This record gives sequence, structure tokens and C-alpha cells, in this order.
Amino acid sequence: MGSIDTPPPTTENGLTTTTCNGNNKQQQTQIGDELDISAPAFEKTTENEASKKRKAGVLPLEVGTRVMCRWRDGKYHPVKVIERRKLHSSDPDDYEYYVHYTEFNRRLDEWVKLEQLDLDSVETDVDEKVEDKATSLKMTRHQKRKIDETHVEGHEELDAASLREHEEFTKVKNIATIELGRYEIETWYFSPFPPEYNDSLKLYFCEFCLNFMKRKEQLQRHMRKCDLKHPPGDEIYRSGTLSMFEVDGKKNKVYGQNLCYLAKLFLDHKTLYYDVDLFLFYVLCECDDRGCHMVGYFSKEKHSEESYNLACILTLPPYQRKGYGKFLIAFSYELSKKEGKVGTPERPLSDLGMLSYRGYWTRVLLDILKKHKSNISIKELSDMTAIKADDILSTLQSLDLIQYRKGQHAICADPKVLDRHLKAAGRGGLEVDVSKLIWTPYKEQG
Ligand code: ACO
Ligand code: ZN
Repeated sequence: MGSIDTPPPTTENGLTTTTCNGNNKQQQTQIGDELDISAPAFEKTTENEASKKRKAGVLPLEVGTRVMCRWRDGKYHPVKVIERRKLHSSDPDDYEYYVHYTEFNRRLDEWVKLEQLDLDSVETDVDEKVEDKATSLKMTRHQKRKIDETHVEGHEELDAASLREHEEFTKVKNIATIELGRYEIETWYFSPFPPEYNDSLKLYFCEFCLNFMKRKEQLQRHMRKCDLKHPPGDEIYRSGTLSMFEVDGKKNKVYGQNLCYLAKLFLDHKTLYYDVDLFLFYVLCECDDRGCHMVGYFSKEKHSEESYNLACILTLPPYQRKGYGKFLIAFSYELSKKEGKVGTPERPLSDLGMLSYRGYWTRVLLDILKKHKSNISIKELSDMTAIKADDILSTLQSLDLIQYRKGQHAICADPKVLDRHLKAAGRGGLEVDVSKLIWTPYKEQG
């Protein structure tokens, strides 16, 4: 599949702490593996008299300024200044800047020091109307409604002004790191924690009930009292050391809200939904003798008019790229099969969400096409897989496997071409063993 920018690192507690700079060896390797740095990257020229004069004129940089910035790969990339803050020093120009790398996803936005910026490249003529692709908010009507309900109460639809307000409100990450179980994790995005947490850069989560605290000692005290050793709710799947719990947001409101606060730190274009009553949360855990440790989850509306079978999906960063995302996606379709419905994920999909879904759809559909000797229709594929027909069509179209003949779509399934696409779709991930799923659809749960 395509390559994509690498999220910030994670540290296992007790091990050396990695930071988000270019000196981290492990991180550098990951970046080289996955990030498409096809965009121009410049080596910095040595500072001369002209640039010194220039510096004097441009500092402190205005919000909105575009400039080249040294990233953790040691190279210079274009950024836009999103925010600035004064440092405690006597120099009036001593600021640090919160920047957005215009070629990368917002999760890589960060505070940088002045010395990382190449002031010779400052663009003074800033066109604020030009919006970066990576920051633009694309939302479905449904998601707009959700924002409406949380931030702009009383309005039917989210207008452009509210959308700008939302962007303004969420532009700078508030919490930099969290501690969760064995891991210290750098966050990716803003999450609207209650105001009393606004002054904390780090939060400490109980890995079982997901309560969060500002200080380590508070967490330690909490851990002595907290008697949960797994998510609340029903264990509906167990295979080896993997368990899936179904948590009803109505019965476990605080847990549902805590999970949303936590998840929002890694989800950009999703809005916190305070009314968790309407959702079920499927929490995937790795279990050992200390308890069941959450590795990821997905949420699902109890009733979806749009046939959504998944609202938000997250694999916590320390557990990513191990096949859990594909497992969660496969699980959501197994639930749809049990309900006798087709399903689709709520839009928009993030870049990583899109890659994971496209990989899953490709593998599932092409596996069937390979085995199926006679012609098969999109409707039949949809019935077999619970994947919505639109998603089947778009997947097969993107692979150039659809022809339009005599007013009808026909699937062309040359075995060699299928093999090539299957290879490109990556590994299958962890299998869901359906015989281990013990579950009754919500509407039948009484
Ligand atoms: N770089 C390149 N490809 C990637 C990357 C990456 N950093 N991450 C995932 N992929 C692609 C790969 O094709 C990968 O398959 P492969 O490893 O066989 O090549 C495939 O996606 C899925 O890999 P998994 O290991 O099964 O997925 P993972 O456990 O990493 O979870 C997920 C994927 C849930 C999208 C994760 O990246 C995540 O939590 N991201 C942050 C939250 C998010 O964006 N969620 C989706 C929002 S959309 C929605 O909620 C409806
Ligand atoms: Zn707890």
C-alpha cells in the first residue's frame, strides 16, 4: 500500500525515553521505511550578513508565516506558523513556534525553536485564503451534527464560521504525552479535556477504567484502589491472549467518555461525542496475569440510519502495524454479518484509516474472486462479506478491475492481476475466529 508519515514514538515505561527530535535512531529508521519524503527537502545554507539583517526585520514571526523548518529527519520542509509563545528571556524576539508541516498530516505539528527555522526562506506575502490539504476539515452531515451538538449548541448545521472556530480551537495540541499501562505515548491531536486539565502537558491514565489524572502519585493511589482488571462490560470474544469486550455507553457512561477523550488524542477529524449512550464500544485487549490491556477499540452506533457499522477506530500507537487495525475492521464486519446487514465505516476516513480499509477490502474481495470460478456480482460479494456495495465498487474501480459493458458493471478477474494486487495489499493481519465470538446484536439484547 502507499507510504505515509510516521507517527511520533512511544516509550515503554522504565526504558529510555525517546523524544521527538531528529536524534532518535529508532525513529529515523521508521521514517525512512514509511514516510514519502518526495517533497522538496533543503539543506540549510550558512548564515551570512544578509540573513542577519533579514532576521532583524522578520522577528518575531507572525502567525500564518510560511518558512522552511528543520524536521526530525534533519532536512528542511515547508511549514506554516500556527501559533507562537514567548519564552522567558530578556530577548523580545525569543519565541517558540507551533508549526504545521504543509506536506504532512497534522499529527506531526509541533513546537519548534527558532534555530530550527531557516529565516532566509520566510515568505512575507502570506495568502491566508489558501488552505492546506492536510488541515482542511472534511465532514459528513452526520459529523457536522455531532460538532453542532457539542460545541455550537442550538444550531442545526455547522456553518463555515463554526468550522473555522473548531479549527481555531483545536489547532494546538494541548496534552503532549500520556502514560497508559506500560507505555508513555506522545499524542497526535488536540482533545477537549475538561478545563481543569488545561495546564497539564502530561496525563496519567488508569489502563483499566481509563480515569485520567494530572500527577503520577494520584495514579499510583488510584491503582491501589481500582479493582478493575479489564474493561467493564461483556467479554464477547476470546482467542488465545486476545479478548474483545463490548461496553454499552449507557451503562458505562464515564468509561465511554474517558475512552473518547483518550481516542481523540489520536483522531483528528472526529468530534468528541459527550452523549455516549448511543454507542457501543468494542475494546480489544491483550490479556496476561496482570489483567487485560487495551490495544485498541472501535465504536458503533446502536442504531445507524446510514448503515455505519463503525464510527471511530483506533489502535494505540505502541500496538500499531501489528495487524490489530485489520482485526478490528474484520470484527466490525463479522458483527454486521451476525446482524444480517451490510455496513460501512463512518466518513471521513483518516489517511491511516483509508489505507487500512482499502487493504482489508482488497484482500477480502480478491480472495473471493480468486476462488470463485464463475461470474459473481457486486450484490453477491456484498452479501458474502457485509461490505457495502459502494465500497466494493470503489475498491475494484481503484484497482482497475471494473469494466462497464452493455450498461452494466462487469468484474474482470485475471488471476495474475489478482495475485499482483493481493501482494500489494500487504499482510492479512490477525484473523477473527468467528467460532469464538459469542454475541447477540444490540436490538435483540432486550
Ligand atoms: N504507514 C504506512 N501504512 C500504514 C501505516 C503507516 N504508518 N499504518 C497502517 N498502514 C496500512 C498498512 O497497509 C497496514 O498493513 P500492513 O502492515 O500489512 O502493510 C494497514 O494499514 C493496517 O495495518 P494494521 O497493523 O492492521 O493497522 P493498525 O493496528 O496500525 O491500525 C489504524 C490502523 C486503526 C487506522 C491506526 O493507524 C490508528 O489508530 N490511527 C489513528 C486513528 C485513525 O486514524 N483512525 C481511523 C480514523 S477513520 C474512522 O475512525 C472511521
Ligand atoms: Zn482505574
